[in-house]
Amino acid sequence: MENTWNTDLYQQQHSFVWQLGQDVIALLAPQPGERILDLGCGTGQLTAAIAAQGATVTGIDADAAMVAQAQQQYPELDFAVADARTFTLPEPVDAVFSNATLHWVNEAEGAIAQIWTALKPGGRFAAEFGGQGNMAQVLAALAETRADLGYGPSQATPWYFPSVGEYATLLEQQGFEVRFATLFDRPTPLTGETGLVDWLQMFAGRFLADIPAEAHPDLRQKIQAKLRSRLYQNGQWFADYRRIRVLAVKPD
Ligand SMILES: C[S@@+](CC[C@H](N)C(=O)[O-])C[C@H]1O[C@@H](n2cnc3c(N)ncnc32)[C@H](O)[C@@H]1O
Repeated sequence: MENTWNTDLYQQQHSFVWQLGQDVIALLAPQPGERILDLGCGTGQLTAAIAAQGATVTGIDADAAMVAQAQQQYPELDFAVADARTFTLPEPVDAVFSNATLHWVNEAEGAIAQIWTALKPGGRFAAEFGGQGNMAQVLAALAETRADLGYGPSQATPWYFPSVGEYATLLEQQGFEVRFATLFDRPTPLTGETGLVDWLQMFAGRFLADIPAEAHPDLRQKIQAKLRSRLYQNGQWFADYRRIRVLAVKPD
């Protein structure tokens, strides 16, 4: 992974990630007694919300700090460090859930293959993550600001933001039946006057990784300033999120 996670900044300023994940839990519709995997569980809030509906949930995440924080907050739940591209489970589960994670995983086919293997026949996969066009204005402003300051394009691996057609096709190629798939704009309110600067610090560090760290605060401010007329409304910053949401079933 090219990213390491600041769990404090994540929990203090970016709680919208799991708060907006409630609809994906509704799509999952966890049933009491089911065994469910939360793939890319972060600090565990949605893992706990699924468990509260009576399912037995395991959360896995590639980042050790996220898993440690999740385990500390929810000692009664099972968490483990594991990568979406390579994880295996001791027994297949009834459902795999994933929120705001799979755009970090460029090897989508590898992750889909692991999810398939993790599911019982008849099991389901419910997920939401960044879709085609996600954060387009922010990414354009980031590229423009780099150019304004004489830096070339970032060489960091871009996020994986697929279209519905692309992602549904990968799921079908694996054997899944796609029951629901949609791409939708979800302008997402950010916290405080420095909302966009904080978002860039939390999530977009790798796109500045080739630039000396002491220059980052100024760069982030310049990117935010460029976006003010479009993404700051009535005293509130918004991120131009666009999400893909899917429900797919592994046939019996
Ligand atoms: C924005 S957080 C979302 C966390 C949680 N699902 C939530 O809704 O709060 C994205 C998470 O994806 C995890 N992640 C990124 N790449 C991953 C990978 N290859 N395998 C597993 N987890 C990964 C990160 O470590 C991070 O915890």
